[in-house]
Amino acid sequence: MTYAKIIATGSYVPEKILNNEELASMVDTSNEWILSRTGIKERRITTDEEKTSNLAYNACLEAFKSCSIDKSEIDMIILATASPDIIIPSTGCILQTMLGISNHIPVYDLQAACSGFIYGLSSANAYIKSGKYKNILVIGADTVSKFTDYTDRNTCVLFGDGAGCAILQGTEENTGIIDCDIFADSSGIKSLNANGRLSKGKVEGYPYIKMDGQAVYKMAVKNLTQAAINIMNKNGFVEEQISWFIPHQANLRIIEAVAANLSFPMEKVIITVDKHGNTSAASVPLALDFAVKSGKIKPGDLLLLEAVGAGFTWGACLVKY
Ligand code: ACO
Repeated sequence: MTYAKIIATGSYVPEKILNNEELASMVDTSNEWILSRTGIKERRITTDEEKTSNLAYNACLEAFKSCSIDKSEIDMIILATASPDIIIPSTGCILQTMLGISNHIPVYDLQAACSGFIYGLSSANAYIKSGKYKNILVIGADTVSKFTDYTDRNTCVLFGDGAGCAILQGTEENTGIIDCDIFADSSGIKSLNANGRLSKGKVEGYPYIKMDGQAVYKMAVKNLTQAAINIMNKNGFVEEQISWFIPHQANLRIIEAVAANLSFPMEKVIITVDKHGNTSAASVPLALDFAVKSGKIKPGDLLLLEAVGAGFTWGACLVKY
């Protein structure tokens, strides 16, 4: 039996920091309000020149530095993003060129909003298990600031830009991804969207994120809790066996509510939302890479990765690291 093992991780955030005080000078909000409602202190924002592909590229370089495989050994690239550089071709193809991967491997973008990285892991796991591909580069990268309305205090305090990635490799050892579940419920479209659309060269509709915060909050807590319980039960694990819970970094209150429902002590929960805000598809791989590089995650640890996002989409992934 072949398993998909995470052999390397990488991440990157843009240099420019946008903190709560600066936001308070842009909209009617305060550091105290943002911190108490979301746990976010600051977030990173791209310049006009920096695109999703630039963030993804830098994250990938980090990952290649931390493993011995060469870029030419990658046999598939899956880039999860809701903020492609351009309409066509895919940002994954742009990234392929930047990385100098010139062999004819399959490359595609995957759009599952904030759940994109978990969807990407799920896809890569299936391809590797099938035996058709051995080394798959999965990236979550987003520049949500490009479609955030910085006059709307309901949304602009929440989001940041970033990228994270993992290199998955097929192995016959019983390690790596144990299981991945992904879901969608499109009745959530009305509660969270950016519904601008291109029509004959013009953008029609409101091109920025619009959100019913309380509906999203309830959906996120319910689905993250349920997905975690399902995947642990199905695979015969109980919460004490999970070494690290790495949830989507949307909001500290959501994370704390889910951890409490699952009886995970907060010491076992990876938190980066204070520094990055909600980076959409980048959130889980950024948190994963932070936890690996800071020495929290050790080989053999059991990880529960989870995300939830627009669609609604959500998913859970159990990994033996
Ligand atoms: N600063 C000050 N006041 C604000 C701000 C702000 N940035 N944003 C909203 N308010 C106001 C509202 O206008 C409202 O005022 P009113 O009572 O006069 O109408 C008041 O604060 C309370 O608003 P609520 O929506 O009740 O505030 P709540 O406690 O629910 O917190 C929040 C809002 C943080 C958005 C919360 O609902 C939440 O966390 N939702 C989840 C959203 C999320 O994480 N989205 C990320 C994208 S989706 C994803 O990744 C899963």
